[in-house]
Amino acid sequence: MTKPRKRTAILISGRGSNMMKLVEAARTPGYPAEIVAVISNRPEAEGLAWAAARGLPAIAIDHKAYATRAAFEAKLHTALMDHGTELICSAGFMRMLTGGFVDRWRNRQLNIHPSLLPSFPGLDTHQRALDEGVKIHGCTVHFVRLEMDTGPIVAQAAVPVLAGDTAATLGQRVLAAEHHLYPHALALVASGLAQVSDENVLISDGFNQEQALFSPSLRAAVT
Ligand code: GRF
Repeated sequence: MTKPRKRTAILISGRGSNMMKLVEAARTPGYPAEIVAVISNRPEAEGLAWAAARGLPAIAIDHKAYATRAAFEAKLHTALMDHGTELICSAGFMRMLTGGFVDRWRNRQLNIHPSLLPSFPGLDTHQRALDEGVKIHGCTVHFVRLEMDTGPIVAQAAVPVLAGDTAATLGQRVLAAEHHLYPHALALVASGLAQVSDENVLISDGFNQEQALFSPSLRAAVT
């Protein structure tokens, strides 16, 4: 008997390019998650129109229409439950979540962040990486905890910083890595191969641990 796929909702606030990659991945045979809803706190988010055009439930919950964060999150939670959500992927979702929401979805909510956490949490990660002169930058998929950009790390992709990079060129290279990493990390979690234990993510025995890492060679990045 085939395992039921994990019912996954994606939270976005804008462009939604990571969301698009998750949707595409979930349409490939054997992928362990299905996308049951795309939800945005910004009704005008480009990603929402993309999802709607593909027949996915695309839901706008405008945070500005709610007096408190708790009221917004109650509505969000209801929408998630209405779609039988088991896992959440935040993908460029730009709202801080309260402890109440984070606790309800503990170990069931992933986020992607454009740096190798715990380096460079927060905004402007690419410029900050350039300012610090790091030679390896990248992106991280992690389980969500209350403190922003913290939580058990599922998978990371390393991206080289090249001479002459600007925040824009480096950001493009990182985004390309994000597009590979997020579908891979969701598959690890949805299949049960990656699980939180003691605030670390363990990848099941018998599974190639290296598959939780993406380290493109410098040569590949230069050519
Ligand atoms: C990505 O770089 C993601 O890591 C960050 O916000 C950006 C969202 O881009 N959290 P997109 O909306 O997925 O195109």
